[in-house]
Amino acid sequence: MAGTVHVIDHPLVQHKLSLMRSRETSTSTFRNLLREISMLLAYEVCRDMATTLIDIHTPIAPMKAPVLDGKKIVLVSILRAGTGILQGMLDILPSARVGHIGLYRDPKTLAPVEYYYKVPESMGERDVIVVDPMLATGNSAVAAIDRIKASGPRSIKFVCLLTCPEGLATFHAAHPDIAVYTAAVDERLNEKSYIVPGLGDAGDRLFGTK
Ligand code: URA
Repeated sequence: MAGTVHVIDHPLVQHKLSLMRSRETSTSTFRNLLREISMLLAYEVCRDMATTLIDIHTPIAPMKAPVLDGKKIVLVSILRAGTGILQGMLDILPSARVGHIGLYRDPKTLAPVEYYYKVPESMGERDVIVVDPMLATGNSAVAAIDRIKASGPRSIKFVCLLTCPEGLATFHAAHPDIAVYTAAVDERLNEKSYIVPGLGDAGDRLFGTK
């Protein structure tokens, strides 16, 4: 089964992404743009979410009004760059629960090693949105989804800002059932596993660590 990839090609998303890509963009502008673009990504990711009807009274009349069950949504951020997307998504999904997963790459085997994992209780009744700006080699995304699947959530989606054919192939070879939402699929990975043309190191640009 080929995995689903949703490329969010809305002009607002593409405009903000172009500003983020530019090496002239400062840390604070990059951070603000990531927050803004993440709201727009969240808007698309929630497009097919179920709503339930609740009874309310408008100033004019009673009605049954559709609402999302925000407490069922769990945003899982892959540390550390996932934090930037998390912030924007929480701006428009304020009742969402939050999980974190920390992975580093073993320098010898290059395999992802988990150093932190915390998600809400009762995952079986929740819809998970995993966030990480860059789906590059795909290795940490695969490891994160392996771990989250083991908690048995109702559904999982993966959201990134940028990806590339290599990352998508690795991701969907392991998890063909998980849809990926992204603002762009770039050309390729380079020899240092950076996305080309990409935007550089998302964590460093977000936190100003380089
Ligand atoms: N991680 C990043 O931050 N940037 C890339 O290009 C690839 C992985």
